[in-house]
Amino acid sequence: TTCYLNGQFLPLSAARISPLDRGFLFADGAYEVIPVYSRYPFRCEEHLRRLQDSLDGIRLANPLSIAQWQAVIAQIIEAAPFADQSLYLQVTRGADTKRDQPFPAVPPTVFAFTAALTRPSDEMRRSGIAAITLPDIRWGRCDLKTVALLPNILARQQAVDAGCTESILIREGFLTEGSASNIFIVRKGIILAPPKDHHMLPGTTYDLVLELAARHGAAHEVRPVTEAELRDADEVWMTSSTKEVLAVTTLDGQPVGHGADAGRPGPVGRQMLAWYV
Ligand code: PDD
Repeated sequence: TTCYLNGQFLPLSAARISPLDRGFLFADGAYEVIPVYSRYPFRCEEHLRRLQDSLDGIRLANPLSIAQWQAVIAQIIEAAPFADQSLYLQVTRGADTKRDQPFPAVPPTVFAFTAALTRPSDEMRRSGIAAITLPDIRWGRCDLKTVALLPNILARQQAVDAGCTESILIREGFLTEGSASNIFIVRKGIILAPPKDHHMLPGTTYDLVLELAARHGAAHEVRPVTEAELRDADEVWMTSSTKEVLAVTTLDGQPVGHGADAGRPGPVGRQMLAWYV
């Protein structure tokens, strides 16, 4: 497939980046993942706005204007052999001549490529997924989408090692988010979402879910969610650009929910997914 690297479109297999790139040496960069449906980039403006916020947060000038990003995105989407895509954008602080912490005066590295989007399977939608909880050991700016994902990767692998799909992170007794998703819970028919702060990524799907709840008059509250509330929830969902809205039906080996629906996707989540797709 075709990728974009520093002003050029070229085959992904031909792309070359310096080993002194600060993305490689320091994870000094930011990224975005944009879902593409039938070659249409979904919520593209929102993703580009969040990229701007992430770059502002790490004090890296955005190398491209919105229009330039849109042109790059359009060309990559067009060149791909598949219609549903997971489009990736990354900007790092560039390749220096030495390994020094302070910002160098070098051009940033700008990279974009696309892969086939694998949406949740029907089976995954029917049965939901299993998750584990873990302490959130990440830094104090999880609202920035930086490429420094080691804690997320370790948490996610721990879930996979336990035969699960996602890790749900807990900081000082409160739910923050998943290793690659935002987490909602439902209690007594009310959708509960943790408020945006420095401990979670402001998800584009999170915003969309709250928009849909408001538009359709579904009861919802944005407020801190305790670990105890998470464990006793009627429903738990994970949301992200690639997973959309997916029920978490097993948490730390226990079925999520109560009564007949325990361990199965619940009605509020089913309704939300119907509004979403
Ligand atoms: N991850 N929280 C984290 C830590 C994430 O990595 C993601 C997305 C989200 C959800 O954000 P959004 O709804 O905008 O996709 C929340 C992407 C998909 C990834 O890194 O692959």
